[in-house]
Amino acid sequence: IKNIAVLTSGGDAPGMNAGIRAVVRAGIYNGLNVFGVKRGYDGLVNGEIVPMDAKSVANIIQRGGTILKTARSDEFRTYEGRKKAFENIQKLEIDALVVIGGDGTFTGASKFIEEFDIPIIGMPGTIDNDLAGTDFTIGYDTAINTVVDAVDKIRDTAESHDRLFVVEVMGRDSGLIALRSGISTGAEAVLIPEIKVDYDAIMKRLDKTRKNKASRIIIVAEGDKEGGIVVADKIKENFPHYDVRLSILGHIQRGGRPTCMDRVLASRLGVASVEGLIAGRRGEMAGLICGEVQFTPFKKAIKHLDDINENLTRIVEILSL
Ligand code: F6P
Repeated sequence: IKNIAVLTSGGDAPGMNAGIRAVVRAGIYNGLNVFGVKRGYDGLVNGEIVPMDAKSVANIIQRGGTILKTARSDEFRTYEGRKKAFENIQKLEIDALVVIGGDGTFTGASKFIEEFDIPIIGMPGTIDNDLAGTDFTIGYDTAINTVVDAVDKIRDTAESHDRLFVVEVMGRDSGLIALRSGISTGAEAVLIPEIKVDYDAIMKRLDKTRKNKASRIIIVAEGDKEGGIVVADKIKENFPHYDVRLSILGHIQRGGRPTCMDRVLASRLGVASVEGLIAGRRGEMAGLICGEVQFTPFKKAIKHLDDINENLTRIVEILSL
């Protein structure tokens, strides 16, 4: 291969810029020409493809968001859209792609490979951490640290006013942001979509531990069937004596400077993706498992795992006395 292109797709995640930088520089290091595609798959369809050089990725490793911009492309979901994308790739003689994103990104990439036989390697870029084939996705560490920072601040108010706060965090179908941030902020309960909510048990626990605490934090994953608003209402109904407030953290969780962990993860996976393409790999996501780079076929990587580590959920309960 001589020419490769990199794009970011789906929701932005802190560390995507570090990933772009790594792909561009590892490509150049290996004698390749590297292009950047703007606005995810939309840019492939519309021909928004620009040459990148070492300087074009200077001073971005510390920045959140993505300099290439991102989108959830409707056109690329159609065969006509993908055909246009392929024609644009052919015009520039691009031989292979690196796509940074989540399950939607890899689903699109799989279709594209099947129909047009183009080598693609993926990098896991999503704050949700909901991909198989990697212990952590790029952006997750930064997002959970943002949540921890916000909840620590909320705790100050909760404690000062003897309040109970329901805090809704992101995670479309996944409770992993909720679970880790819940443990590290000492949350009294964590509600996640993977586990059915047992309100009775939660209410009993809140009551039992009443004498030990002035404040209470209940973290709810947005993907939980009920969401923060419903949970806050139910608690108000059952515990009229608690002063309940709801805080929905929202997109603050997607922005900001990536943590060191996310920068290193993105840098390692960017280099691995380029080396993987050169070695003839395609249709796989580069991930990090137990500290080692591993490649997982897209179809396996997008399989959302419902098997939440039970030790983590147990820890919330044990420590919320
Ligand atoms: O997948 C990342 C994520 O932030 C989810 O946690 C959330 O459900 C979704 O994206 C929100 O997407 P959008 O920014 O398009 O509303």
